[in-house]
Amino acid sequence: MILEAISPAPHAIITGPKQAIREDHLRFVQGTTLWAQKTKVLNRDWAELTFREDPTLQMLLDRNALKAGKGRYIGVNADPAIILANQRRFKKETDAGLCQWVTGKMEPLLWDPDVLQNVGILIFDAYETVANSQIDRTLLPVLDFAIRQKDRLGQFVLSCTFSLRGTRATRSKSGIQFVLDLLSDHFGVSLNQDKHTVTYRSTRRSQNMLMFRVAL
Ligand SMILES: C[S@@+](CC[C@H](N)C(=O)[O-])C[C@H]1O[C@@H](n2cnc3c(N)ncnc32)[C@H](O)[C@@H]1O
Repeated sequence: MILEAISPAPHAIITGPKQAIREDHLRFVQGTTLWAQKTKVLNRDWAELTFREDPTLQMLLDRNALKAGKGRYIGVNADPAIILANQRRFKKETDAGLCQWVTGKMEPLLWDPDVLQNVGILIFDAYETVANSQIDRTLLPVLDFAIRQKDRLGQFVLSCTFSLRGTRATRSKSGIQFVLDLLSDHFGVSLNQDKHTVTYRSTRRSQNMLMFRVAL
């Protein structure tokens, strides 16, 4: 059952680092059963596409939100150099079992019975464009994983961010409509393009992104 399907703020303009979004994800998770209200730690693992420096992990560490064997952070990236850098940067925390690093594409991992089995939160900010005619190859495994985990664990939080770059039609529909229809078929929720569009503005450029977050 869908509890909420929201963007951080309709038409929000995010400037500079995307820290506001990371903070908002945590606030959202804290309103679900994936957060232990008494001990103030995650009840399940938090998986995310990691990048250089990993400010999400830093935020979770700063809030003491992680606990080995209960709610860990799992950073995934296809680039081994990024994973290695984070393994080194967060060596102490990795050795303490607070985080884990995985090199590879996220999609096949979603079918791996071991690595992501305790994941209750998935932040999939691949920034792939909705105009990609193969976007279903990315999105479908993510949506199926969310539903399977919800059935197994009782609750699941999924956040996805896609770029609205490009106008190319996907099959007979526009890319954005194709993505919105996939979401509605899977989750029974209607997302509204306007309401879920966020503009990221940096010094160099600004770009529109489709961002949605659901608690299943
Ligand atoms: C936007 S960054 C992640 C940002 C990070 N979550 C944050 O809040 O700062 C996305 C990274 O994931 C990688 N990536 C994109 N799609 C992926 C996929 N399907 N599997 C693994 N890595 C992917 C990209 O190359 C990039 O390094």
